[in-house]
Amino acid sequence: MKQLLIFFAVLFTFSQIHSQENLPTDYLSKEFHKGRREAFRALMPANSVAVVFSYPERVFSKDVNYNYHQNPDMYYLTGYKEPDAVLLLFKEAQGAEKYNEILFVRERNASRETWTGRRIGVEGAKSKLGFTTVYNGNDFNAFAIDFSKFDKVIYDKIPTDLEGNKTGYDLFGLLQIFKSKAGITKENETSTDLFTKITNSLREIKTPEELDLMRKTVKLSCIAHNEVMKAVGPDMSENEADGIHAYVHRHYGAEGEGYPPIVGAGANGCILHYGENNSTKIDNQLLLMDVGSEYHGYSADVTRTIPANGKFTEEQKAIYQLVYDAQEEVFKLCKEGTPIQDLNTKSREIIAKGLIKLGIITDPKDARIYYPHGCSHFLGLDVHDKGNYMGNLKENMILTVEPGIYIPANSKCDKKWWNIGVRIEDDILIKKDSYENLSAESPRKWQDVEALAKQKSTFNEMKFPKI
Ligand code: GLY
Ligand code: MN
Ligand code: MN
Repeated sequence: MKQLLIFFAVLFTFSQIHSQENLPTDYLSKEFHKGRREAFRALMPANSVAVVFSYPERVFSKDVNYNYHQNPDMYYLTGYKEPDAVLLLFKEAQGAEKYNEILFVRERNASRETWTGRRIGVEGAKSKLGFTTVYNGNDFNAFAIDFSKFDKVIYDKIPTDLEGNKTGYDLFGLLQIFKSKAGITKENETSTDLFTKITNSLREIKTPEELDLMRKTVKLSCIAHNEVMKAVGPDMSENEADGIHAYVHRHYGAEGEGYPPIVGAGANGCILHYGENNSTKIDNQLLLMDVGSEYHGYSADVTRTIPANGKFTEEQKAIYQLVYDAQEEVFKLCKEGTPIQDLNTKSREIIAKGLIKLGIITDPKDARIYYPHGCSHFLGLDVHDKGNYMGNLKENMILTVEPGIYIPANSKCDKKWWNIGVRIEDDILIKKDSYENLSAESPRKWQDVEALAKQKSTFNEMKFPKI
């Protein structure tokens, strides 16, 4: 009787911990993830097994971790969002039970869940994620699997900087068990080429479910950029502009950003991955904002460059127009069949010609000084998403087009150009004979940017106590 009571008490506690209301209704479906596993399996060689681990948890401060972010490959293949898990994917069905995939998950634990959040556990992985064969991570060691019987064990790079916790079944523990079972040592760790090749070829093409989420994340980033354009003024700080973007995209359901926001005024806009965002006054300068929402795992990547006082100077306008022209020329190449490298080449050619015309350089090779990065990358679960950069554009790829010109102080050109940093970045869906600019909702033409910057935002009405 006592045991029965304890059983019901535990069941009650779990169901209480587990119940969560008012969640978004547009998460990827378990059918989507199952379909991705099938697509992965189809690309595996005969008699092989793939092994995919969760990402590690990372320390933010002493005993506090960063918000957890799942390994995008694990999320893509399973929908599982927790740490300390491993997926085994078999090319052929195994054992008498004929399973072709197994997921080892974090064990449920009422006390830990009260401290660090809900876990879906074995039952959740079955009911919510659609897996049939699921075990707790602490069953991995005892699970009988002879990796030596496979012709190929496919896995991604193994992190080498982890320390185990005392459970022994955290990621560190699971990796140790895997390495020991598969006989992997530092010396014979196989190349990750095949894992990369398979995930590249799957993830570079977006499915209809992914396209829905990509459209959404890019749209809310654009709405947020537009609100910042309206709200921003010389007295605002970089961090506050970032905060407005964050508020707006979260208002629409974004979980956060897909990468650390880059919000740089004047000279700071010339630092490519500026992340301090701590200038207290944007002043009468250009503000370069590279901020993209993350929505259900999918990242936008949008940059707009705004004159904080609503008006570009002649020099700012000339540089802005050149970046815009480079983008327009690259857009024309955005259709199935174009070699991906051509996007970069074309943007570099336009910017070099333009910089010569403006008298900023004389040798086209020097364009690299002011335009030091590439023009395009794949976009999706990772901001710099997986894909084959040496291939051609294909339908349903999404890539950024993001030329930029950055002229820091003391550059070898007339000082009227100094401290101008401009990037315009859009997210482009490739179609058979054309493209769709998913970020068209945020203006790019200098005239349209100025017009929007002159408008007032609802954020300009907000009043806070003086301190
Ligand atoms: N936000 C990083 C990039 O544009 O690639
Ligand atoms: Mn980008
Ligand atoms: Mn960007």
